[in-house]
Amino acid sequence: MNRYVLVTGGAGYIGSHTVVALHQQGFVPVLVDDFRNANAIVLDGLEFILGQQPIVHRIDVCDKIALSTLFEQYAFDGVIHFAAYKAVGESVEQPLAYYHNNLVCLINVLSLLEQYQVPNFVFSSSCTVYGEPKGAKEVSEQTPKQLPESPYGYTKWMGEQIIADFYKSASHLKLMNLRYFNPVGAHPSARIGEFPIGKPNNLLPFVTQTAIGKQAKLTVFGNDYPTRDGSCIRDYIHVVDLAEAHVAALTFLADQKEGLLEAVNIGTGRGTSVLEIVEAFERSTNQSLPFEIGPRRAGDVIEIYANVQKGQDLLGWKARLSIEDAIRDAWAWEQFLATL
Ligand code: UD1
Repeated sequence: MNRYVLVTGGAGYIGSHTVVALHQQGFVPVLVDDFRNANAIVLDGLEFILGQQPIVHRIDVCDKIALSTLFEQYAFDGVIHFAAYKAVGESVEQPLAYYHNNLVCLINVLSLLEQYQVPNFVFSSSCTVYGEPKGAKEVSEQTPKQLPESPYGYTKWMGEQIIADFYKSASHLKLMNLRYFNPVGAHPSARIGEFPIGKPNNLLPFVTQTAIGKQAKLTVFGNDYPTRDGSCIRDYIHVVDLAEAHVAALTFLADQKEGLLEAVNIGTGRGTSVLEIVEAFERSTNQSLPFEIGPRRAGDVIEIYANVQKGQDLLGWKARLSIEDAIRDAWAWEQFLATL
């Protein structure tokens, strides 16, 4: 029997890699995306990797009636919910668009989950719920959450709150918040990856776009932080590892008999500074990267990385790819994009 999994935002960066991981583990992913923030070219990439066309429905997840037709059509084993806006700066300029899109989509999915008795649900959350860690920079799921710095961050924080309250009213369901650290890299085939719209906000796409000449130079946002080299430290996780974490989460949920709600950090457990990323890129690709030191970026966390014990213990999952793998794959993807 087919094990259908609904993947909202399935044509996006993390969604598309998760579609591949689901397919490889014998699930049948059903993508829903309205391609507002995704490029249809990803479908060619998925077809190339999967060896068959993915199942795709062009639907806005905020349109509950349209979304409900999929729940009529497929007996889903579970839902992985990615569909959301994710740019921190843009969320400050357009808060209502962020709250509307990210929260309405989530509420639609949860209410259909309940209505159609779909037992398993995975939510795309973020380490942003921890804010700037007080004391230890390694955060576990027990580390107290803090109020976020941006409307984007609030949508993740509120998303977790909505799920917690929903669970109290529907405690037979099995729900998991995956708190991603910094996803980077691309599929090793270089046929799917990240498509930043306009000027990239995130570090690695800016690095690869600088190396290929789309951007003149990288600005390192501050080198006077209290870290080992003065630049900010993050936990960069290869998107293929991150995708596999979703399959591990879904498999774990499907095996549980009782309802539950859990949050799990998805990172590598290692912190890497911005300047270390620059050095690693130069080393891996054998070319120098033009960069300058600029002022700090408002709202940046200084240093954070994941405690990954719970992911190992509960899901039997841990990251296996390195930052060098991610840089190699992101660079191959950037070069592939240049051929289009
Ligand atoms: C932010 C969000 C995270 C969200 C992610 C999605 C917070 C605290 N973090 O991650 O929740 O999931 O965006 O997009 O809200 N940098 C430069 N130069 C650049 C770009 C970045 O130096 O041109 C530095 C940043 O200062 C930071 C690091 O690179 O130290 C990573 O930045 P970025 O890729 O934007 O991710 P976060 O800000 O960590």
